[in-house]
Order: sequence, then structure tokens, then C-alpha cells
Amino acid sequence: MKNILLTGGSGFIGTCFIRYLLKESDFTGRIVNVDKLTYAGNPENLIDIEKDFPERYVFIKADICDAAKMAGIFGKYQIDSVCHFAAESHVDRSIVKPDAFIQTNIMGTFNLLECCRSRLKDIVRFHHISTDEVYGSLGREGYFTENTPYKPNSPYSASKASSDHLVRAYHKTYGLPMTISNCSNNYGPYQFPEKLIPLIILNALEGKSLPVYGDGLNVRDWLFVRDHCTAIWTIMKNGKNGETYNVGGNIEMENIKIVEMICDILDETNRLNDNRIQFVKDRPGHDRRYAIDFTKLNQELNWSPEASLETGIRETIKWYVDNRRWVERVRSGEYQTWIKTHYI
Ligand code: NAD
Ligand code: TYD
Repeated sequence: MKNILLTGGSGFIGTCFIRYLLKESDFTGRIVNVDKLTYAGNPENLIDIEKDFPERYVFIKADICDAAKMAGIFGKYQIDSVCHFAAESHVDRSIVKPDAFIQTNIMGTFNLLECCRSRLKDIVRFHHISTDEVYGSLGREGYFTENTPYKPNSPYSASKASSDHLVRAYHKTYGLPMTISNCSNNYGPYQFPEKLIPLIILNALEGKSLPVYGDGLNVRDWLFVRDHCTAIWTIMKNGKNGETYNVGGNIEMENIKIVEMICDILDETNRLNDNRIQFVKDRPGHDRRYAIDFTKLNQELNWSPEASLETGIRETIKWYVDNRRWVERVRSGEYQTWIKTHYI
């Protein structure tokens, strides 16, 4: 892998992965980050990377749904591998307005696959980043394995499931070298503050109420984003062609417990402004429990997560406390003005 086309690199996990790849991993090639810069993509996340790695990092503002533009990028940068993060990623938004989810997550993935099909001999790896939400919801017992049948419940998870199927179909039908990772809920620095953990941290710091959906007993399996990054790179390098790998943190937690934990940690340093937990109307079709069995990734590729929930949450809280300017800018959409002067 010399020239990786990395889509959605200016979002939460993409940003962390680019930073990991260039600063910490053994990757020696070039990354071409293609990002549409939706509300969730922030090019400022990688300003230092643009400066520090001028030969190895290229940013292009583009929509993966733009077939002609994508074809041009594959040719110009001699792309030999793809790491596909770009997506609409927030379940609540998909419930209110699914359109962009269908476009980006399904049609966008299809476009990238077509680009690869037209230059199949040059492509050594298409790695598709997906979610455990494609498997649906668990009861009290059991875990998602790579053999669990797909049963997505939200427009978001249904669109991700479609894209997974397309990627695998391009392998079976055309021989595209590919891997897929289905990962549990991530948290950490740079996460857009619409998702549970950053939303609760910021609301608690700012004295706003803390919204908990339904009875607060829905369970998620949390993974610190850096551990997701090491998993992705492990799979890209050593994963078996055509295979899917589940990635998880082995940390199952009820939402209400996460909220209480964040409040307790903030309270230790007198940063807790308010802990008004407010039970609010439940999300329609709210999946009850996700839990990941990542034995395959552990046994075949020797990966396991490093961060405990406690250390991960502490690091995340510190990041949001230290980066209030970032928070203000993504919330106000201020960086959208910056995008217009820099990239359009
Ligand atoms: P995010 O919403 O923070 O970032 C998505 C990025 O994709 C943004 O930079 C956005 O500008 C870009 N994008 C959106 N539409 C685009 C388009 N049409 N063309 C080009 N770029 C576009 O998402 P995230 O949380 O970083 O998630 C990244 C990937 O990981 C997604 O595929 C998501 O399904 C998957 N995933 C996320 C989690 C999680 O907990 N966040 C867990 C498992 C899997
Ligand atoms: P979220 O971060 O949106 O991730 P996902 O829906 O992909 O799992 O939500 C995590 C859990 O937290 C989910 O069960 C919904 C719940 N939740 C709340 O209780 N309150 C909130 O304000 C949000 C955003 C989520």
C-alpha cells in the first residue's frame, strides 16, 4: 500500500486514523484524504498534519458520490488501496432525514467500488469501515459474531449494511481484494458533540441538562478510538482477503452508567456544573443492546484493545476541556466559513 485513498478523513475516526498512521504506525506511503466536509468534517483537525507531512498527506475536498471526480483522483494519485470511512454516521439524523444516508453510504460506496473495478489490477486492498449496528439488536444474552445475520433497524444501519453487501459482492463477482471491519461504539477526541459521550461531557461542563433516551438501560460496547485505529491498520496489513472482522472494546455499559461515570469524574475536579439527568423520549426503533465478540481478530491477527473505559473517558474529558475553541467552532459552524475561503 503506497497511495491510500482515505475517504472521510476529516471526521472523527478518520482524523484519528490519519494521525495514527502518519505519526505512530509503520506506514510509509501517502494518504489522499477525500472529504466533502459536511457538518461533521473539520479540516482544521489536520492542519498540523498538512504542514508536517507535505509529501505524505494530500487533502481534497470532494464528494465520493461525484463519479468523475473520484475517477480523476484514482488516476492522478495512482491509488492502490482504499480505506473507506466517509459516511453519514448519526442514527438520530438518519431517522429525521434518511436521504443523505442513502446517497453517501450506499451510492458513494458504489462509486468507489466502480472506480476500483475499472482499475482492478492496481488495487491491493479496499478496506471498508462499518458498524456492529448492521447486526440489529441483542437481548440480555449473546454477542455479535462475524456469522450473525444482518438485521439493521435504523436507516443508518440499513445503509451501512447495504454498503457492506456491495463491498463483499465486488469481491465475489469481480475479485476486488477487500476487508470489512464491523466496530462497536467509538469515543475519544474529535468526536462531533452530537454523540452521547461528547454531548454529555459538554452539557455537564456547561450546566445543561443531560438527556438520556428512554429508561437509560440500553447497552453499548465502547471502544476508545485509538484502539479502533490499531485494529483497522492491523486488518489492512494482515487481514485475509475477502474477510470480515468484528472490532469491540469488551466494555458493555448501560447509557445511564456512562452518564453517571462522566459526572463522577468531572465532580472530582469541581468541573461538574450540573448533573441534571433528564430522561427524555426514546429514539424510535432504539436498539437495546450491542455486544461484540472479537475473538477472530484477536486469535487470527493478535489484536486486542488497550484502553480501559476509565482511562479512555478521562483522556476524552481532558481533550474536551482543553479544546473549547474547537468545540465552539464546530458548534457554530465557524469552520464552514473557513472552508469557503480555503477550499472552494
Ligand atoms: P463522522 O460523521 O465523524 O465523519 C464522517 C466524515 O465523512 C466527515 O468528515 C464527513 O465530512 C465525511 N463525508 C460525509 N459524506 C461524505 C461524502 N459524500 N463524500 C466525502 N466525504 C463525506 O463519522 P465517524 O464517527 O468518524 O465514522 C466514520 C466511519 O466509521 C463511518 O463509516 C461510520 O459508519 C463508521 N463507524 C463509526 C462508529 C462510531 O462510533 N463513530 C462505530 C463504528 C463504525
Ligand atoms: P449515539 O452516541 O448516538 O450512538 P449510537 O446510536 O450509534 O449507538 O448513542 C449512544 C447511546 O446513547 C444510544 O443508546 C442512544 C443514547 N443516547 C442518549 O441516551 N442520549 C443522547 O442525547 C444521545 C445522543 C444518545
